Amino acid sequence: MQTLVVRGGKPLCGTICVHGAKNGVLPLLAATLLGNGPSELSDCPEITDVLRAAEILRCLGCAVCREGNTIRVDATKACGICIPPELSGSMRGSVIFLGALLARHGCAELSAPGGCVLGERPIDFHIRALEVLGVHTESEGSVLRFRWPKRHGGVITLPFPSVGATENLMLAAMGVSEPVVICGAAREPEVAELGRFLRAMGAEVEGEGGSVITLCGGKPLRGTERRVLPDRIETATYLSMTAACGGDICLKNTDPELLRPVLDVLEKAGCMIFCEGSEIRLQSDGDLCGVGLVRAETYPGFPTDAQAPVSAALLRAKGCSEIEDTVFPCRFRHIAELRKFGANIQTDNARAVICGVRALYGATATATELRGGAGVLIAALAAEGESRIMHAELLLRGYAALDTSLQKLGAEVRFA
Ligand code: EPZ
Repeated sequence: MQTLVVRGGKPLCGTICVHGAKNGVLPLLAATLLGNGPSELSDCPEITDVLRAAEILRCLGCAVCREGNTIRVDATKACGICIPPELSGSMRGSVIFLGALLARHGCAELSAPGGCVLGERPIDFHIRALEVLGVHTESEGSVLRFRWPKRHGGVITLPFPSVGATENLMLAAMGVSEPVVICGAAREPEVAELGRFLRAMGAEVEGEGGSVITLCGGKPLRGTERRVLPDRIETATYLSMTAACGGDICLKNTDPELLRPVLDVLEKAGCMIFCEGSEIRLQSDGDLCGVGLVRAETYPGFPTDAQAPVSAALLRAKGCSEIEDTVFPCRFRHIAELRKFGANIQTDNARAVICGVRALYGATATATELRGGAGVLIAALAAEGESRIMHAELLLRGYAALDTSLQKLGAEVRFA
């Protein structure tokens, strides 16, 4: 377990570069398994989920090497079909390799995926949808075995625009020469990027980024190169930190269009935000006001991954704010940790009501999961005095160079 020690109450000032998106690079790494020849991904963040994804590819027989923020994968000799339990159980992103394994080998074996505890995280949408294409599933304890004896295309309607299920279907469709049509698809930018990546590998893909995606695979795909899109949630997190503490930061290598709903909420709270090209500047005097209702939804709505960081930014805002999460209704385990800093938050079912307090005070709290942990970190940065965040290693799953980036902005943080 790692502990992050924070001395809060300081404004954040300076310029940092946003890294490539965790939820963008993972599906692309899974897609490299389909290439006959090497693929190269640049601007890959140095985070534990990417390290684990690289380990999964090596276990499947790929040659994987990393130079700085570039990862090269050669899947030419990949013959493995089984993801070891210790890797598949380590993160939700492991389930995305299922579709690629089915496309390449027609079978796969993995344990129930792990990842952030945000409430129930089944994969029934994935399994039901793959069955439409002819995939059979057997379970033995926590091990799931998939076979695809008779591959065929089809039209799948997802009951919810699930990011992972959409990505898995797009990857599996590469193993079928008949059209696969995904209705009710997720529209997240990371999903659209996967569509563009598969097209660059030689696949026929239409409609990525919309709610109907049509794919046609069944032919050899070539390796390709791509720069990973900026992490919109890392962007939202650093903006929320500065909103909470006060200061003046500039984020480079990002894209304001990927997080407009977050920018709107932070402006409504009283921050000054300036966007130009791939840069976002935020100025805040730390005196914010409540924003009323913030409803986390699927893209292009307010992102669920940003609700904990933005909630933490509102803990000292004058007036009240209400947070609802329609994607993960139980994603409020961090609230009890925020109360340890003196926050006034009430929760029931799928919402939290925040009434701003004059000050927050240093505390010892626990990172409950990746984004909840970011919320706890923001409370610690805004609190007077010293705080200790337990299980801070969870933050390293999704935030590269977290301590050094914050130190560059003037924060007093260190891993104990
Ligand atoms: C992806 O998770 C992201 N993870 C999550 O980011 C993100 O919060 C989520 O999408 C929503 O945007 C990665 O991309 C690795 P879903 P995923 O399938 O694919 C239910 C982070 O912090 N559901 O869109 O697992 C599910 O329980 C992480 O970076 C089923 O019921 O999310 C949830 O309520 C956290 N059955 C809703 O759908 C299924 O088979 C949306 O889940 C699949 C999902």
